[in-house]
Amino acid sequence: MAVDLLLGLQWGDEGKGKIVDVLTADYDIIARFQGGPNAGHTLEFDGIKHVLRTIPSGIFHEKAINVIGNGVVIDPVVFVQELDGLEQFKIDYKSKLIISRKAHIILPTHRLLDAASETSKGKAKIGSTLKGIGPTYMDKTGRNGLRIGDLEQDNWKEKYRNLANKHEALIGFHDVQIQYDLAELEKEFFTAVERLKELTFIDSEEYFQNAQRNGKTILAEGAQGSLLDIDFGTYPFVTSSNTTAAGACTGLGVAPNQIGEVYGIFKAYTTRVGSGPFPTELFDEVGAEMAKVGHEFGAVTGRPRRCGWLDLVALKYTCQINGVTQLMMMKGDVLSGFDSLQVCTGYKYKGETIHHLPYNIEAENVTPIYTEFPCWKEDLTKMSDPSQFPAELNNYIDFLEKELEIPIKVVSVGPDRTQTIHR
Ligand code: GDP
Ligand code: IMO
Ligand code: MG
Repeated sequence: MAVDLLLGLQWGDEGKGKIVDVLTADYDIIARFQGGPNAGHTLEFDGIKHVLRTIPSGIFHEKAINVIGNGVVIDPVVFVQELDGLEQFKIDYKSKLIISRKAHIILPTHRLLDAASETSKGKAKIGSTLKGIGPTYMDKTGRNGLRIGDLEQDNWKEKYRNLANKHEALIGFHDVQIQYDLAELEKEFFTAVERLKELTFIDSEEYFQNAQRNGKTILAEGAQGSLLDIDFGTYPFVTSSNTTAAGACTGLGVAPNQIGEVYGIFKAYTTRVGSGPFPTELFDEVGAEMAKVGHEFGAVTGRPRRCGWLDLVALKYTCQINGVTQLMMMKGDVLSGFDSLQVCTGYKYKGETIHHLPYNIEAENVTPIYTEFPCWKEDLTKMSDPSQFPAELNNYIDFLEKELEIPIKVVSVGPDRTQTIHR
């Protein structure tokens, strides 16, 4: 069986958690392939809202096995908090949550390094979630990292100590001094590692090969969004992993020719949290209304998300990079009652009109060119079938499908599992 992928096509928070939860009914295995606790994936059902950070969004289904792949970075402290959050819902995570031995571990000093690096950047800061993501991936590519499989070796604490000592020296090199109590942080870390060790560690690439051979259906869950990809995103205002389709191959050990459907998920508008360029950003009351109605606050940091119109130039780019085969449009309900809608269909760049993403998309380099659409007035949140869609919504969807040349198969009209309409 091929491995299907679900990816965010914008700057994250598109609603991946919700859709993975919905799709899990059709899959045996859900696998996270990159990122770490910088992610906040929200799912809602039975009137309860859950936010997952490292754990795949299939965990609430009875049967699905949830795998944390080698491409993920795990903070044992956050991870244990997530496990505790599951306990009250009687989720038997010990039997259905497994972790790749090759996944890297976020140390307390990685978080401190993240803070030192961001603080010393001043105004040029990335706007990181400060979860230690960048420093952990740096140690991975620098070949210094501590991995889950190391926890099964007798000398892992020695490896830990060497790495933490190096980090302390590096923290000292930064211009700014940050305050911390490492003994306290380590106490919490070592306790969490003992809990983590109660779970099953696997060689995930072999696990996926066997699962495929045995006809199991697998869905890979992306974190962040394609515009935060380390290679193809708005560098340096990106995260430190490949959030795009290729990241699923390296983050799980699945060959490119084994990839099946690529579900691309996007909001009917655009949001971004943290620093970096955002050509269609709104600074007026329309943007403020999107933020208010859409509850656009970060699931992890609580920071307000910047809001703006849908950017089709960027969306075409990310569909192409990922090889998206079907689209899912989220949060159309948030726009109900807006006077009109704008969609960016090109940029003015150095005096010319362009339809691709140039190297520099800062406000001083690109000016969005918009096409205007009438907006639907109806409340979409109670709808359950495309036949109920207002003409303006159908018109919007038709335009996007035509421009992107990919079908929009799902329209989400609210945060709940049930507010999902298949076309
Ligand atoms: P993720 O990181 O991609 O999983 O997305 P987040 O969970 O960070 O952010 C998406 C937010 O939108 C969450 O609060 C969801 O509950 C909510 N949400 C998802 N889909 C919809 C939708 O169709 N309409 C509305 N109003 N909210 C949605
Ligand atoms: P989910 O999976 C939105 C952003 C941060 C910052 C940049 C780098 O919930 O969609 P990092 O902590 O990775 O060093 O931060 O990336 N960012 C996200 N924005 N959703 C996310 O994840 C994000 N994960 C990181 O705000 O701008
Ligand atoms: Mg999120």
